[in-house]
Amino acid sequence: MRSPKDFFSPLAVGAPAPVMEIPFRPSRMIHFFDPSNEKMVSKIPSMAEQADVLLGNLEDAVSADNKEAARAGLVKVAKAWDYPDTQLWTRINSLDSPWCLDDLITLVTEVGDKLDVIMVPKVEGPEDIHYVDRLLAQLEARAGLKRPILVHAILETARGVANVEAICGASPRMQGLSLGPADLAADRRMKTTRVGGGHPGYLVRQDPNPDDPDAPRVTYQQDLWHYTVARMVDACATFGLLPYYGPFGDIRDTIACEDQFRNAYLLGCVGAWSLHPVQIEIAKKVFSPEPSEVKWAVKVIDAMGDGTGAVMIDGKMQDDATVKQCKVVVDLAKRLAARDSDLAEAYGF
Ligand code: GLV
Ligand code: MG
Repeated sequence: MRSPKDFFSPLAVGAPAPVMEIPFRPSRMIHFFDPSNEKMVSKIPSMAEQADVLLGNLEDAVSADNKEAARAGLVKVAKAWDYPDTQLWTRINSLDSPWCLDDLITLVTEVGDKLDVIMVPKVEGPEDIHYVDRLLAQLEARAGLKRPILVHAILETARGVANVEAICGASPRMQGLSLGPADLAADRRMKTTRVGGGHPGYLVRQDPNPDDPDAPRVTYQQDLWHYTVARMVDACATFGLLPYYGPFGDIRDTIACEDQFRNAYLLGCVGAWSLHPVQIEIAKKVFSPEPSEVKWAVKVIDAMGDGTGAVMIDGKMQDDATVKQCKVVVDLAKRLAARDSDLAEAYGF
């Protein structure tokens, strides 16, 4: 048993104190780059202006013979990092891989002061977070870091989903969760061959017309990820973490990508991964509240005065609960506007 008082004590002598609260920084898109790919690395200065988060990916999509080059490339990128408004994250290799230990040792001791968040893939339960938590504390102490590195887990195994609340509560370092639909589909033995998004076969169909049973019946495609995203959002809200939709693999299908991101946004996610620059723009649009929504929310908050009672605005009933929803929208808009002057103007702040 561990006393709640100990939860916020460092896990190694000399390690920085854990954070009591996850600081909110805009992270509408987590833009992935391969640090072993020189062309991608050369674009970092312009990407850092466009994206809220750049993530040096060391895991899947980096081939086995490039793992060390990617790690070394990320160290170089991080040493030269000079973009205070853009976060630098990494996705390390999975805990059972031959690269994970060196990923953590190298990154934390050489550039730990430059890394905001470490994304851990294929997290199965709280024991995985406990392992990373202690190891990070030891390495932070060795590196003399002054602030703790935060941890983000990818929800991409059935066991991880079953343990989602325990994962969120495993460490004060837990910053957020991302849905990993590709690995999750494989682990669950879903019969899909895609990276996120819907599937035309997953649908419901209108009842037959009794007078014309052979007439065509309308079908409605359903969201394969609704259940998992909703569970993830509830777990994150319960533990004070930030939830993210993960990757959308069909880069050319910008419309469906926007739809998937918007579903996640409406359900409570704060951002999504971007695998191509075109998805940065989609995420920016989707995960920033619409100016008309913000204006409406401000109107409701103003009309509700001290927040108690009820008023009608344009025929719609407002009360304590709608004011709270409106405050979520306005609060997010203000935080994003502080980083993005175009948004500040659009919102009229
Ligand atoms: C992401 O890592 C995924 O598996 O979808
Ligand atoms: Mg994966």
